[in-house]
Amino acid sequence: MAEAFDALVVGGGAAGLMCALTAGQRGRRVLVLEHANRVGKKIPMSGGGRCNFTNTGASPANYLSANPHFCKSALARYTPQDFLALVERHGIAWHEKELGQLFCDVSSKLIVKMLLDECAAAGVRIATSCSVEQVQREATGFRVRTTQGAFSAPALVVASGGLSIPSMGASGFGYALARQFGHAVLPTRAGLVPLTLSGKHAERLADLSGVALPVEARCGGASFRNAMLFTHRGVSGPAILQISSFWQPGEDLRLDLLPGIDALDTLQQQQCERPAAELKTVLADLLPRRFAQRLCEHWLQPLQPARPLRQFTLPQLREIAALLTAWPLVASGTEGYRTAEVTLGGVDTDGLSSATLQSKLVPGLYFIGEVVDVSGWLGGYNFQWAWASGHAAGSAL
Ligand code: FDA
Repeated sequence: MAEAFDALVVGGGAAGLMCALTAGQRGRRVLVLEHANRVGKKIPMSGGGRCNFTNTGASPANYLSANPHFCKSALARYTPQDFLALVERHGIAWHEKELGQLFCDVSSKLIVKMLLDECAAAGVRIATSCSVEQVQREATGFRVRTTQGAFSAPALVVASGGLSIPSMGASGFGYALARQFGHAVLPTRAGLVPLTLSGKHAERLADLSGVALPVEARCGGASFRNAMLFTHRGVSGPAILQISSFWQPGEDLRLDLLPGIDALDTLQQQQCERPAAELKTVLADLLPRRFAQRLCEHWLQPLQPARPLRQFTLPQLREIAALLTAWPLVASGTEGYRTAEVTLGGVDTDGLSSATLQSKLVPGLYFIGEVVDVSGWLGGYNFQWAWASGHAAGSAL
């Protein structure tokens, strides 16, 4: 005999817990099935341990999806202010960083505790270390066989996340289940992920690991101004993580190394003020010294950067300015799901209701959170999608 519930939620991450507590508050008997030994494992590691739990500026423009309109409904009905009100009800101190990003003052573990307290108050049952072995559709709903017995419910919510960070419990379960029930799954790839360098490019920049600078990263019409960090495998930092979601191997990726500064103006001004200074010295004042050295050795060598600025012609200054404003970063790939913050692609939104996240093909089946083809920018947008989509499904089932 299968134990009966009103809703079974597969995956106890951000979206699954929000869905479960919302449905529980509406009197639904909810069981969360989590295959890891703890729920919400990604939350403590998020935001450097402080969880960037939302972004007050979150809007559909901050999300990537084959259907950019899909996320509108859920985001409009559960806003960053709604989640903030919950955080404040639990007395969790928070602060705002750049661009509306809200973080916990003390620890992201408080967010997990808050979600668990809300689930407990709403009577939600949570089964951890519980693996789903089989899902069957029956006349009255779904029957789910797990390592802890069989359960049935008229509603089944798939909140099993994407493929990023397999060591934290990520699995392809949601995609397989979607296909089992006839849903299309759009190709997945790692997003918000460091980029790797190889060959000549890697050799030239190899010893810069730890060097950081502000840049504006541009690719395929998208651009992000923030910090870039050289790593021992390539490049990372917020500007790179952001642009990684828009970049694919072989695509042109350019970095403005002096964002917000007119490079030609600056060089001409320096030429007037410091005519005897060598170009390499001037660049070392504008950029991290070791990076400026590499630029001079490998990209500006034909212009003889050890010459004093007064010897440079206007076309030469233009050439240098062009390099500084659109330095080509030749990435070979990404670090992949091992370190990616999100998975791009996933369950095709065409098959889902944007208001409830319910399947258009199978009544009672819902897909929420990262498993769906909706991925946010860096900066609290992904948790906001998890809360909003979880709330939408939890309010509907
Ligand atoms: P999530 O991955 O959180 O949860 C899915 C759950 O399902 C997991 O508990 C998993 O174990 C479980 N599961 C998987 N397969 C299963 C199966 N077969 N059976 C049962 N359970 C199964 N975002 C943000 O907005 N601000 C931030 O600061 C950060 N920081 C950050 C740091 C790092 C290192 C990462 C990797 C990610 C972030 N993110 C983030 C992204 C954010 O963590 C992510 O978007 C959400 O956790 C997605 O929530 P979901 O509930 O959809 O998936």
